[in-house]
This record gives sequence, structure tokens and C-alpha cells, in this order.
Amino acid sequence: SGADLILGIETSCDDTSVALVDRGGRVIACETVSQFDIHAEFGGVFPELASRAHLEAVLPTVDKVLKAIDSDTGRLRAIGVTRGPGLIGSLIVGMNTAQALGLAWGKPVFGVNHLRGHLRSPDLDEKRITYPALLLLVSGGHTLLCHMTSTTEITVLGTTRDDSVGETYDKVARMLDLGMPGGPALDRLARAGRAVHRFPRPMIREGYEFSFSGLKSSVARMLEKDPDVDRADVAASFVAACLDVLGTKVRRALGEYEAKSLVVVGGVAASPQIRDLVGEICAKTGVQPCLPPLKWATDNAAMIALATWDYVDRSEPTDMRTVPSMSL
Ligand code: KG4
Ligand code: ZN
Repeated sequence: SGADLILGIETSCDDTSVALVDRGGRVIACETVSQFDIHAEFGGVFPELASRAHLEAVLPTVDKVLKAIDSDTGRLRAIGVTRGPGLIGSLIVGMNTAQALGLAWGKPVFGVNHLRGHLRSPDLDEKRITYPALLLLVSGGHTLLCHMTSTTEITVLGTTRDDSVGETYDKVARMLDLGMPGGPALDRLARAGRAVHRFPRPMIREGYEFSFSGLKSSVARMLEKDPDVDRADVAASFVAACLDVLGTKVRRALGEYEAKSLVVVGGVAASPQIRDLVGEICAKTGVQPCLPPLKWATDNAAMIALATWDYVDRSEPTDMRTVPSMSL
């Protein structure tokens, strides 16, 4: 069946992921090795250990995925690899692997922005996005609001000045002794409380940029001043402030940009409260809600492989520089 697949490699943070995806977004194979246990005792990702773990896992994972096509590399049209943003040591493991395999097999290698992968992830397995679309990416690493008129025409409306939404959830969860990763636990606790405290909504009035560190410190101050405060109420009030900021910016963007669908991706999209908010906004505006399966919402190589298909037909040179910034 010719060179009909792209091999994707993703090693930007703490997951080693390799996938095979066809032009239509069908995932032939996707294997992800999590480093969760390695980092759990540090309460966060430890870069040096992450790079070493990627080095150990990456080739066995490539091997495993290739079994799905009987290791017939003739099926490969290209290799796509995350070139950033992410941990530099981790990125280098993935990029070196991709370049070496490309050289050995005689395949072109494309560097792909990780965020672009997330933005394309809803079209894995089946096409879910109807364009033009407004996309909100809320993960542990990133917060991004984008308008897309096609798979490749992306306007970044705003990003965060400091912490991401997921990071903020995790840090507040830690203040409340909820363990790691704290987001889901905090989300659950919030549903048992009442939003009786009025926390600040940073930058809610203007534009599309986000900031969450002020909200985080305000929660910390309250817990310091009043250690006996009802924790569920604090959690509920914190979540209410986050959702107010996110909802306000999304509604503002829907007022200014034409959109047929509202897409929410990233780990925080697992929150039932976020999902309710999206449903509410869509019901009011007549925009189609798009909440892709959570399996593709978290870091994976299938989204990188799919994003690579957007490049293969262009004659632009392969860009393997790492991207520390937001250039998509
Ligand atoms: O996309 P993701 O798996 O990792 C990154 O690539 O960043 O996102 C992980 C983030 C964590 O901060 C986690 O606490 C948060 O998503 N998260 C949630 C929920 N489930 C995961 N946050 C709020 N409510 C949830 N139910
Ligand atoms: Zn990610």
C-alpha cells in the first residue's frame, strides 16, 4: 500500500511516545511509556531523570510500534518529531533518534511544534473539528487560546504570562494536601464545596492573555490566615475563579471571531466542570462543542504524526531547531 504512514515521536516532557498514523488521522499504533513513577517522589518532573528514561525507552518503543506493520519501513512516508517547546534534554533524545532513523531508512524528518500537535489531536481516529474553530488548550504545560480557519491557518489569540491552568490546579492542590497529580483531586473536592470566597480573576477584563499566579497566591494567603477554613469551599471558589476567567475569554473570542466549533484539549479538559462550562457556552451561542476523547488530550505521538502530514506535501525545508517559544 505504498508509503502511507507517518512515524511520530514525542519526548518533550515525561512521556516517551511513538505512533503510526495515516493521512486520514487513523492511528495504526501508539505506544506511550509514562515516567510518572520516576518523578512522583520529587513532586514534579526532574529533567535529568526524564532524559535518561527517554533514552532507555525510545528505541524499544519504536520497535514495538513497528511490529504493527511487520517492521516494513517501506510503509513510512516520513518521520515527525516534537522539536519543542519542552525540556531540552528530553527533546534532544527524540530529535536525535528521529534523525538517525531518517538517515538509516532514507526518510525525511520533520520537526513539529508540540502545541501544534495538541491543536490537531481532535482529528485523530475521526475528523471532529469543523472550521473555523476556536481552540482552548489547557494542560499541565500550556494555556493557549487559538482561532483556526483550517488545519494550518492558526492565529494565537492569547497565552499565559506565568503559570498554566493545570500547573495552577496542581499547585493549589498541593497547598490543600491533595497529592499528585492534584488537578483531578482538586476538581473533585471543589464539587463538594460552595464558591463562597471571592478570589481575584487576573486579567479578566482585557483581551485574551491569561495570568494565574495572582490567583494562586491569593489562595495561599487565605490558607495561611485561616488554617481552619473549609477546604472544599476554598477549592470550589478557586475553580469558580478559573472557570470565570476561561469562560469570559472564550465568550469574548466567540464574539469577535467566526467559529463553528469550540474545541477544548489538554489534561484539564478532563474536568467535568470545564466540560459543563463548554456545554453551557455552546448552548447559548449555537457553536458546536468538541471535546475529543481524553486518550488524545494528553501528550502522545499520534498527534505529532498527524501534524506532520500538514508538512509533507510542502516543499519547505525541514526545521529541526528546537522552539522554546510559541511560534507555531
Ligand atoms: O495535558 P496533560 O496530561 O499534560 C501536559 O502535557 O501538560 O495535562 C495534565 C494536567 C495536570 O496539571 C492535571 O492536574 C490536570 O491536567 N488535570 C486536571 C484534571 N485531570 C487532569 N485538572 C483539573 N481537573 C481534572 N479533572
Ligand atoms: Zn502537551
